Amino acid sequence: MRILAIETSCDETAIAIVEVKRLSKSDTFKILANNVNSQIEIHKEYGGVFPAMAKREHIKNLPLVLEKTLKDAKIKIEKIDAIAVTTGPGLEPALWTGIVFAKELSLKYNIPIVPVNHMEGHIFSIFPKKGKTFKVDTNEKIFPMLSLLVSGGHTELILVKNWHKYKKLGQTRDDASGEAFDKVARMMSLPYPGGPEISRLANEERSRVLSGSIAQAVEPSISKKFSRILLRADGKNMTSDEIILPRPMIYSKDYDFSFSGLKTAVLYLIRDLKEKNPNVLENINIKQKIAKEFEDAVVETLVHKTIKAIKQYKIKTLIVGGGVSANTYLQEQMNKEIKKLRKSDFLNTKVHFPVRALTGDNALMIAIAGYYQAKNKKFVKNINKIKAEGNLSL
Ligand code: KG4
Ligand code: ZN
Repeated sequence: MRILAIETSCDETAIAIVEVKRLSKSDTFKILANNVNSQIEIHKEYGGVFPAMAKREHIKNLPLVLEKTLKDAKIKIEKIDAIAVTTGPGLEPALWTGIVFAKELSLKYNIPIVPVNHMEGHIFSIFPKKGKTFKVDTNEKIFPMLSLLVSGGHTELILVKNWHKYKKLGQTRDDASGEAFDKVARMMSLPYPGGPEISRLANEERSRVLSGSIAQAVEPSISKKFSRILLRADGKNMTSDEIILPRPMIYSKDYDFSFSGLKTAVLYLIRDLKEKNPNVLENINIKQKIAKEFEDAVVETLVHKTIKAIKQYKIKTLIVGGGVSANTYLQEQMNKEIKKLRKSDFLNTKVHFPVRALTGDNALMIAIAGYYQAKNKKFVKNINKIKAEGNLSL
């Protein structure tokens, strides 16, 4: 079966084509083409995604990306068996462009459509590795599975009891983790998207601490108390542990998250620093320290709640997906804590992150999720009824 997938939920116009061979225990996927046209350069000016602009760009890009994708795959569109399209969650004006485009193709070439939930796509994003072919293991032994989905729009913990059987354990009550990275980066005049910038600065600070240039090297610790900050003079010569940010909701009984208070704490921190020295952010060291403490706070919170859920549900497989899953510190800390579970809880949980190119939005993950929708005959019966659902849930 050949699937053509279209993804336009945010600021990437993405189209992919896969060819799938059904086997009894697993399905073998061959990537015929996988293209992502990113609008990051356009949205940089606004410090975030501007929906009307995203819509305009998708409309302009879709036919061009399709042409390139068919050319890369060396096939004619008539050879496609199903069109998979993201219908939500995401920015509705952006989602509609992909849906309208899919409908036009469907009518013109008489190809059925399967709607795909973007978050389900992120779950499937961990299967492709290096190379053009990959397998999706449908073996029961990988369940129960847990998925931590962290992106610019979402932060959710999903219990996957079996394929397509999802239960949302918790989610952010305000900002998504990626959104917090972007907003904090903006406060420090760093370009959009902020995640990779903050991460780079935080890692620089960690290497400096490790290389011994700061005597009281710090192991990140989970601070129960929120002591906003102890400031010395103009902020110069501050050590990392003098900047303490909160870990919102880390000890709450549920699996929810909150990042808006953390973001506000950074805002106040910068305001206080600037009162003492208006040019304080010209000091790269200060930026590195704020970035590190902020990243520590986000990562500790994400890891803490994930580990708690793994223990409670005796999770066999953890999947981390979404733009923030590219964060190297999150990967490192998650791996470390999961390893500890072997001794402490006799849990042999396997953790999977997508390959770097598939952490962000892409159509390959939509193609995989779409294949399973098609395999289960979840085709849209009346294409006029297909609609964008900005808040679609798993
Ligand atoms: O999944 P994605 O590409 O798009 C959405 O669906 O939102 O995620 C984008 C988000 C942005 O907020 C970006 O800052 C964040 O992922 N991000 C990172 C990193 N790389 C991207 N956040 C933290 N560390 C990173 N290395
Ligand atoms: Zn996404």
